[in-house]
Amino acid sequence: MKRLLPTLRADQTSESLISVINTIHIAAKEISFRLHQGALAGVLGSTLDENIQGETQKKLDVVANQLLKTLLLESPNVHAIASEEEDSIVVSPNSGHYLVAFDPLDGSSNIDINGSVGTIFSILRKPEGEETGESMFLQPGKAQVAAGYIVYGPATMLVMTTGKAVRTYTLDQTVGEFLLTRETAEIPRSTREFAINMSNQRHWAPPVKEYVEDLLKGETGPRKKNFNMRWNAAMVSDVHRIITRGGLFTYPWDDRNGKKPFKLRLMYEAAPMALLIEKAGGKATDGYQRILDIVPTDIHQRVGVVLGSASEVDKCMDYHAKHPKPF
Ligand code: F6P
Repeated sequence: MKRLLPTLRADQTSESLISVINTIHIAAKEISFRLHQGALAGVLGSTLDENIQGETQKKLDVVANQLLKTLLLESPNVHAIASEEEDSIVVSPNSGHYLVAFDPLDGSSNIDINGSVGTIFSILRKPEGEETGESMFLQPGKAQVAAGYIVYGPATMLVMTTGKAVRTYTLDQTVGEFLLTRETAEIPRSTREFAINMSNQRHWAPPVKEYVEDLLKGETGPRKKNFNMRWNAAMVSDVHRIITRGGLFTYPWDDRNGKKPFKLRLMYEAAPMALLIEKAGGKATDGYQRILDIVPTDIHQRVGVVLGSASEVDKCMDYHAKHPKPF
């Protein structure tokens, strides 16, 4: 079976980019090991701190962040990092050509229940010039040179693209290597499965309410087919299901908290997932426009997300088009 690095070389990925990806996968193997140790490693539960997003940090959020941060900042090819768990970007003493944005442990509320969690990463080229501040990172998702995630489930899997195919690798625990287990992901155009946190229904804007109501009417409703619903509460594992067998995932705008009408972060959740989804033949939008076209104004910016099987995303966007934007 093919190992990770030779497959990247076969895609003509540059050695400097391969080295950054390799650094991420070394950190991922360590995170996977700690997660699989579970309570034995003494890392379950929360810290007493909150991150910049006002969320309580899990001990493993901190461990995963520290591992990625330390290893990436030691890499000669990395210029700076942005992390969900860091208030600001951190610039490396090395003057590498790449910027890495990451969510070290997505869906971390699943840790204590032994559910799937993941690491999401997005790699950008440092813009030419002397710029060293946060604005270096404020590039639209379509500028990403690589993106991917590691899902720590029953198996640890890495799904990534350097702009060509979306490849899936599985961590062989016996040799400690990611081995290629799926050459190319192809998301079916249509689906009968959707993912949304239904408990927020009363807070959604009209287009999302109407869209989901019609899905729930099943074969006697306007969609003329029955839909199944899945919600893993970790974007990585919901997206992994869609990359594997299709589906629609949405975390839309809602009015629960006027200061935070969106939940998911653009730079290290929505944009890297959008690149993977598009490269696998799906679509990723905020309900109105392509996520990869959105130019961030802040590294921790949040965004509405509708992604997955292309024709289902189009359908969902048709409902949005009938209403004015709530934001
Ligand atoms: O980014 C945070 C996250 O955990 C995502 O991974 C996931 O899709 C979502 O939040 C879960 O949200 P909720 O708590 O509403 O189920």
